Amino acid sequence: MMLRSNHPTERKGTETVTGRMIDQEVERLTPQLIEDRRYFHQHPELAFHEENTARVVAERLRELGLEVRTGVGRTGVVGVLRGGRPGRTVLLRADMDALPIEEENDVPYRSQNPGVMHACGHDAHTAILLGVATVLAGMREEIAGNVTFAFQPAEEIVSGAKEMIEAGAMADPPVDACFGLHVWQNLPVGVIGVRSGPLMASGDVFRAVIRGRGAHAAEPHRGIDATLIASQTVVTLQSLVSREVPPLESAVVTVGQLHAGTASNIIASHAELEGTVRTFDKEVRRHLSERVPALIRSIAEAMGAEAEVEYSFGVPATVNDPAMTEIVRAAAAEVVGSENVVEATPTMGSEDMSFFLEAAPGCYFFVGSSNEGTGKTFGHHHPRFDIDEQVLPIGVETLIRATLAYLNGSD
Ligand code: NI
Repeated sequence: MMLRSNHPTERKGTETVTGRMIDQEVERLTPQLIEDRRYFHQHPELAFHEENTARVVAERLRELGLEVRTGVGRTGVVGVLRGGRPGRTVLLRADMDALPIEEENDVPYRSQNPGVMHACGHDAHTAILLGVATVLAGMREEIAGNVTFAFQPAEEIVSGAKEMIEAGAMADPPVDACFGLHVWQNLPVGVIGVRSGPLMASGDVFRAVIRGRGAHAAEPHRGIDATLIASQTVVTLQSLVSREVPPLESAVVTVGQLHAGTASNIIASHAELEGTVRTFDKEVRRHLSERVPALIRSIAEAMGAEAEVEYSFGVPATVNDPAMTEIVRAAAAEVVGSENVVEATPTMGSEDMSFFLEAAPGCYFFVGSSNEGTGKTFGHHHPRFDIDEQVLPIGVETLIRATLAYLNGSD
């Protein structure tokens, strides 16, 4: 039996109206949480192919008496729990997809789907949210308002959240606030990372084709060297971050691909480059979205070539609302003790929870899942990624307490 870490001082063991204790409910549920997580771990499915996962989730939500909608954003599932009293609506989100990685863990619950692995912990997220639904469904009469459970496909290709929202996941009932979590290997199990404001970056993509003129390598004056222009472009793009982004703001411009030329004795007629731009701040994002294409075009022009640039906006930054963050911070302290609630370190990685957070105030937070003692220290997307399953009840209890604190005014 998995038990949570010791944190005697702040565990309130909050009594609900019907006399049950939330922490006892969660503890009773823990074997089921582990079973569910291992089942999903054994049966991983790639983005927008989460058919089996979605079917299992929908069945379970129906058994709990929730209103269930399937096919919300292709393979997404929405379950709505209507509380016994009127009130606001909070959305809880879990992502369900796995990664195209061959698992290298030798464990009984190893992936049974060759080349596909839950190497980011979305199996845990799905199990955790089913656990939250189980406990809250059992106390629906005590809940003021509604809880929408959003089981999202395709986070790894940052597409599922947007499609679910476009398909009405936040519409009926209209969502007032949202919470979500990620199991986090950068924090030990028993620690929760919370942060108000930006937590993860926006992720936009640019592609450019620079058209020069081919010539013999020994006669550069007869050509327009696309390789040289592309090189100049890659170097100069970095000056946008160092000279145009305010020094206290964060931004990354990375050219991840650069292709030019066919032989050592030919001046390349064209070059292609592709990169990503990451920011936390909307104004910095807007500025770079204008300046990256402008700079690429003008360098090409200055050197006698032409550039075509395509700039696509991907996910916005994941930004936590201050008041919602305080709710999570307090809920987390009740579960693991305030000494184990830390300020989360922001990352320039992207996460499509940002679309839910853009549509309604909320908080996305990190629940520590690594354990040096048992060697569960491999990072996300590693073929030996695995979590300490004590994170499951911790995640469930934190989400329940945050949800009740938001809906019922206090827990
Ligand atoms: Ni993930």
